[in-house]
Amino acid sequence: MKYDFTTKIDRSNTGAFKYDFMPEPLRGSGIVPMTVADMEFSAPPEVNEAVAQAAYHGCYGYTGADRAYLDAIKLWQRTRHDWEIEDDWYVVTNGVVQALGIAVRAFTEPEDSVLIMTPVYHPFYGAVEDNGRKLVTSALTEKDARYEIDFDDLEAKAADPRVKLLLLCSPHNPIGRVWSADELKRISDICIKNGVVVVSDEIHNDLIMPGYAHTTFAKIEGAADNCIVCTAISKTFNLAGLSCSNIFVPNEELRKRFSKEASVSGCGCVPYIARFATIAAYTKGAEWLDELISVVDGNFRLVYDFIASRLPEFNVTKAEGTYLAWIDMRSLGLGHEELNAFMAEKAMIADNDGEMFGIAGDGFRRWNLALPRKELEAALIRLEKAVKEFKK
Ligand SMILES: Cc1ncc(COP(=O)(O)O)c(C=O)c1O
Repeated sequence: MKYDFTTKIDRSNTGAFKYDFMPEPLRGSGIVPMTVADMEFSAPPEVNEAVAQAAYHGCYGYTGADRAYLDAIKLWQRTRHDWEIEDDWYVVTNGVVQALGIAVRAFTEPEDSVLIMTPVYHPFYGAVEDNGRKLVTSALTEKDARYEIDFDDLEAKAADPRVKLLLLCSPHNPIGRVWSADELKRISDICIKNGVVVVSDEIHNDLIMPGYAHTTFAKIEGAADNCIVCTAISKTFNLAGLSCSNIFVPNEELRKRFSKEASVSGCGCVPYIARFATIAAYTKGAEWLDELISVVDGNFRLVYDFIASRLPEFNVTKAEGTYLAWIDMRSLGLGHEELNAFMAEKAMIADNDGEMFGIAGDGFRRWNLALPRKELEAALIRLEKAVKEFKK
């Protein structure tokens, strides 16, 4: 490996949510958390160098998407996703969650409804409900630890004339599906037929495990005119704290509405440091990303093998993308609070409670596997020991 994915990095006293806001009894314990979706790895050194140079320059003024910036994001989408972007499709926001809220306000009225597929990344709920819109959910169906879209249900829900928008998570957090081009085509056709605009949150689009392929929603035949595609450097290169996302809206009318609401929400600048980080990441970060994917894939394999051989009472969803593992622990028979306490106090594991992502997540845990393998091994061994003691 050219890059370092093994050193344990002390992130305490940096304000990191994962560390400095970790609940007791784990805070300060030295245990590496597997909660919030950022990574326990340094960003690519090429990015760190560009950020340091930008800092030394010293003028942290208002900054926009200049030629070098647009060229870098276009190059990345072309080479990594085989997607040609036009300059004027681009809108900056200071995060994808912010873009979801902007889209809800831009494309719906207060009496309208917004469709999501559950379980899903928890801010999808807030983007709808906290903006005063009605939430309509279509539950993903689970079979043999794999999730699928219930297309009959999705179609029935999309046919409700009050439903104006679909928030699509592609790849899907927390269940790790990388939707196939066929599935995306079916979603697109249903939405076009029913006048439902699609917001495709593709923040995990670069984190695709070997053997799978991500398709940008706008590349699906007929979809470009009916969608907003949300991308970012944040998940791919561990740069979430730079608060910068690249949103693409190919259709002019939709873009006007989205841009207006983005402007009202105070968007317009590319954060100064993010400009330099983005250019470095998208022009020099491909090799680092390839190594990262092999490390995350290895971590998934460790979890699958360990659980299959030593904790067979649990099931792990086979992740096709993201660095998030979705683990079914319902067989422990613990109530919601009891399972939380068991993980924190007995297994000494800081992970996410599956119920955060919707009621169907009760009894599940989400583990963030972007951490050094040794730390993951230690967590699995602690879990095994806690389960053995629990069963005594
Ligand atoms: C699906 C999804 N969308 C958006 C975000 C967060 O995006 P941002 O930090 O750009 O607001 C996350 C973070 O975990 C995510 O998983």
